[in-house]
Amino acid sequence: MNAAASTPGARLQVAPGVPLSGTLRLPGDKSITHRALILAALARGDSIVRGTLDAADTRATAAALERLGARVDWQPGNTVHVTGTGGRFESPGVTLDLGNSGTGLRLLAGALAGYGVGATLTGDASLKRRPMQRIIEPLEAMGARIESREGRAPLVLRPGAPLRALHYRLPMGSAQVKSAVLLAGLNAEGDTAVEDPYRTRDHTERMLPLFGVEVDRVANFVTVRSGALTGAEVGVPGDISSAAFLIAAALLSPGSDLVLEQVGTNPTRTGLIEVLRRMGADIELRDERLAGGEPVADLRVKHGPLAGTQVAAREIPGMIDELPVLMVLAAVASGPTVIEGADELRHKESDRIAAMQTGLAGLGVELRDEAGTLHLEGGGLKSGGILDGAGDHRVAMALGIAGLAAPGTVTVGGAEWIATSFPDFPTLLRAAGAEVSFP
Ligand code: S3P
Repeated sequence: MNAAASTPGARLQVAPGVPLSGTLRLPGDKSITHRALILAALARGDSIVRGTLDAADTRATAAALERLGARVDWQPGNTVHVTGTGGRFESPGVTLDLGNSGTGLRLLAGALAGYGVGATLTGDASLKRRPMQRIIEPLEAMGARIESREGRAPLVLRPGAPLRALHYRLPMGSAQVKSAVLLAGLNAEGDTAVEDPYRTRDHTERMLPLFGVEVDRVANFVTVRSGALTGAEVGVPGDISSAAFLIAAALLSPGSDLVLEQVGTNPTRTGLIEVLRRMGADIELRDERLAGGEPVADLRVKHGPLAGTQVAAREIPGMIDELPVLMVLAAVASGPTVIEGADELRHKESDRIAAMQTGLAGLGVELRDEAGTLHLEGGGLKSGGILDGAGDHRVAMALGIAGLAAPGTVTVGGAEWIATSFPDFPTLLRAAGAEVSFP
């Protein structure tokens, strides 16, 4: 069989040899967009969300919120006007399909748990494989009634008694679990506290005060007081997880000097920048400022050689979504890289350890996995290849970026999944000067 025939779906090719330059504006942060839409739908009155990410995941969350009685008016320029429900959700009458979005499903389950509305939440084949017991357990401890298919979606939320507050220690580094509990806590009797020893992304707790909710943050503990939310204005910064692919592209393309404007630089999200600087990358944060409670900066990235490094388990939550593209950079860097504590990658849109092992093997590179500790020898990609994006947006983009450093053409099949989080990826890469072939 012709190898190309085994890569169904849209094909992505990125050709090497062109320096990347210019100033680009990234689409809105996915995590922050989900939270802004959900909090606006919970609130009483009108909210305005500016710089909203327009992608399949966030559209799925918006559609589910409309089914629950919120009005979501998506205007040109990605300003979204939301008329909230004030917590008086309508019974949706249909199954709410969150598509590929773990954030949408897990946060919505938490947000709905206390409001006495029955709803069924599901998603696509990938989302139905992902673990939901991690939210079911704490939400049930608060008094929610949730039926599932052995801890997987569809989740059926049954109306029940009012929720009780919970003091919960996160058993894994998941901001989605933390946020599900905090959102349920908004409508529970008493104060709900989550201990987060992993220091996962803190967008929920930063945003809640904008909607009038009292939040205490002491060391690793976040406590929310239950109470009504009122409409707010939220500005969404550029997504650092999307910026990561352009940062990598600039680092891999000789002569590059690229500026990425208004990127979110929340310290719970900048792990990749710290690791890349350790590898020798020239990444400058300019004009660091606060916008709507979130740190923002312009990033300037210049091409240069990279050296392998050691990534500790405690660094993983701050760069969890950037690990696939880090693996590509580590394969190209001189010398070995070791990434510890990467197990959570098995529970993403795909098993990202397996998907990247297969993808990198197609480029002649071994990604060795010793019980979640990943090893890459470095020294460069050995060949081009025809690869599969594994139904996973970030795997498809990471492997596409590998095309900038491979000695032969890299073709990534199944690249239509990019639309999950970053539909403008091919356009922005092209705008920076790269030769990109994408339908
Ligand atoms: C997210 C948290 C992370 C991340 C995901 C977005 C969020 O997931 O991988 O893309 O918005 O809270 P986990 O909480 O499952 O680690």
